[in-house]
Amino acid sequence: MTAPPPSSPPPPPEPGFRRGALQPAAEVRTMFGRIVARYDLVNRLMTGGRDVAWRRMVARAAVAGGRDGRVLDVATGTGDLALALAEAGARTVVGVDFVAPMLRAADEKAAKVAVRTGQFPPVALVVGDALRLPFADGRFDACTVAFGLRNMADYEAALREMARVLRPGGRLVCLELTPYRVPVLRAIFGWYFAHIVPAVGGWLSGDPAAYRYLPTSVAAFPPARELEAMMRRAGLTGVRHRRLGGGAVAIHTGENPPGPTAPVAGSPDAGPPSS
Ligand SMILES: C[S@@+](CC[C@H](N)C(=O)[O-])C[C@H]1O[C@@H](n2cnc3c(N)ncnc32)[C@H](O)[C@@H]1O
Repeated sequence: MTAPPPSSPPPPPEPGFRRGALQPAAEVRTMFGRIVARYDLVNRLMTGGRDVAWRRMVARAAVAGGRDGRVLDVATGTGDLALALAEAGARTVVGVDFVAPMLRAADEKAAKVAVRTGQFPPVALVVGDALRLPFADGRFDACTVAFGLRNMADYEAALREMARVLRPGGRLVCLELTPYRVPVLRAIFGWYFAHIVPAVGGWLSGDPAAYRYLPTSVAAFPPARELEAMMRRAGLTGVRHRRLGGGAVAIHTGENPPGPTAPVAGSPDAGPPSS
């Protein structure tokens, strides 16, 4: 896709909504590989630091209700949410991403936490594709994805894959930028995303194209209600969302339906104890 010049407003969402990211996976991968060094700084500046609080909220929502055993953070990037999950009490966190330099940055961040706290956070980092997660069915108590889904080639397939690796009753929490409903706010934030974000993000990262892609990808992303419908079609129940950041972001939550009553430990059906 050819990125529009920085002065042009983001295009309107396509009728019927897109099935997946504006750019092919190979381009998404190279783009994130290029912007690793300044990725966190641009996030903090663009959101006025609110992104940290949003990830904390996601982490708390994910582990609530006894889902603090094994948690998967999909498209973990530089690992902020994976670390927030560990801080929120998750016993094991696996962060998966298909860009290795992002994971190296996450690893360095985890090492800094270890120096500060005297304890290495229980976070394992794995290179992998969200559309083909390298994990068995039902492996995780909770799964999170922050600012990642919008970049995936097939949103619904990605949601189905996340639901697959969740246990019965496991919870998916998704934090994502979302198109505006209210026309005035859409105009204000559209201007901010179309002009300020590419200028500041482009200047800091040295990659204006990456930050021109951002507003177009948000404008083309399914609105919150449509994302809810996608989550339901992926098999999740109790689906709901909450808008934050003046309506610019949404946290979507849903659970896998509860399974049959868990077998009693030690019975032939119980399987090996989980680690
Ligand atoms: C905007 S960053 C978000 C990173 C992090 N979750 C955060 O909250 O800052 C998007 C991340 O999604 C990853 N990503 C996009 N598509 C992916 C896919 N199909 N499989 C794995 N990772 C993917 C990118 O490599 C990138 O690290």
